[in-house]
Amino acid sequence: MSDFINEFWNWYVIVIVIGSVLFCALLLWAQSLHRPPPGEVQSTGHVWDETLQEYNNPLPRWWMWLFYITVVFGLVYFALYPGLGNFKGALGWTSVGQYEKEVAKAEAQTKPLFDKYLKMDVATVAADREAIEMGKHLYLTYCIQCHGSDARGARGFPNLTDKDWLWGGEPERIKETIAAGRFGVMPSHAHLGDETIRDLASYVRSLSGLPVDAARVAKGQQAFMESGCIACHGPDAKGNQMLGAPNLTDKVWLHGGTEAKVIETITLGRNNQMPAWQEFLGEGKVHLLTAYVYSLSNTPESK
Ligand code: HEC
Ligand code: HEC
Repeated sequence: MSDFINEFWNWYVIVIVIGSVLFCALLLWAQSLHRPPPGEVQSTGHVWDETLQEYNNPLPRWWMWLFYITVVFGLVYFALYPGLGNFKGALGWTSVGQYEKEVAKAEAQTKPLFDKYLKMDVATVAADREAIEMGKHLYLTYCIQCHGSDARGARGFPNLTDKDWLWGGEPERIKETIAAGRFGVMPSHAHLGDETIRDLASYVRSLSGLPVDAARVAKGQQAFMESGCIACHGPDAKGNQMLGAPNLTDKVWLHGGTEAKVIETITLGRNNQMPAWQEFLGEGKVHLLTAYVYSLSNTPESK
């Protein structure tokens, strides 16, 4: 339970809780004081339809005792468990503590398995059927919302089943990506002006063999060399995996290859984030996920 910053609220809660419990006990006690002699009934004096009277019978004893028991239960509960302001309860129970205990128990069961795979290199784990099943399970839990259930990605989210990599497809690079996350930053180039940006888009699209306005390509190529594009994408436009800058000469598009999309990318820039997982999942799971991702593009069928 979170602590109150102000001592006032601590006492406010304690007084209301204890006060309500004691008030219930008092009410019960007051109710049991006035019992008419057996066989007699009291009426409240309300009469309807000429003969219909409202009796004022005392509460049944079994019901009173049940109520007393709940009062005692309440007091014992508040002595043992948190509930009274900042008082932590004699047992020191917390929901966080209980959760951590359960997690620790589950981890103690799976840790030897993860440790076994952690000692093996990624390519070996990727060839282990049982490990890949576990990796797939982890993938389906943590990764599909962005990369899709078939790992083929979507606009802005890379396909993990091909051999085209933003950040590199070697086991160490994949593991680094998953463990520490990545920021793909393509700066905005709106300052170049619409005409130059259209030239650039034509040049970039021509590199992938798409139909373009030929007159713009030469101007675009010159602008590509002079506008700083080569600092990240390289003079041959084949990209740079240290920066996550994509290869612009292939047919794979992260943000779309239509003229409008390429113009949008160059004008507005792109900020793309792959979250970091090591702290949340631990190295054992990251290792299995790495092997799973590696296996996707290193099977005989993948190209
Ligand atoms: C919130 C969305 C999101 C989730 C969840 C996510 N990713 Fe990513 N991932 C991205 C984005 C966006 C990129 C591309 C980053 C960039 O543009 O540089 C990426 C990139 C990657 C890459 C690098 C691809 C390349 O071409 O270099 C790998 C590998 C990867 N993710 C694996 C995973 C795995 C495994 C998980 C599950 C543990 C996961 N991702 C979960 C959004 C996500
Ligand atoms: C600071 C480095 C940097 C510079 C400079 C840069 N880019 Fe990029 N560019 C990137 C990165 C990183 C990405 C990938 C963004 C992502 O991960 O979403 C990218 C993505 C792109 C894409 C999208 C590719 C796709 O598959 O959708 C295009 C097109 C592009 N850049 C063209 C250019 C052009 C043209 C220039 C020069 C005007 C330029 N870039 C300058 C880093 C850079």
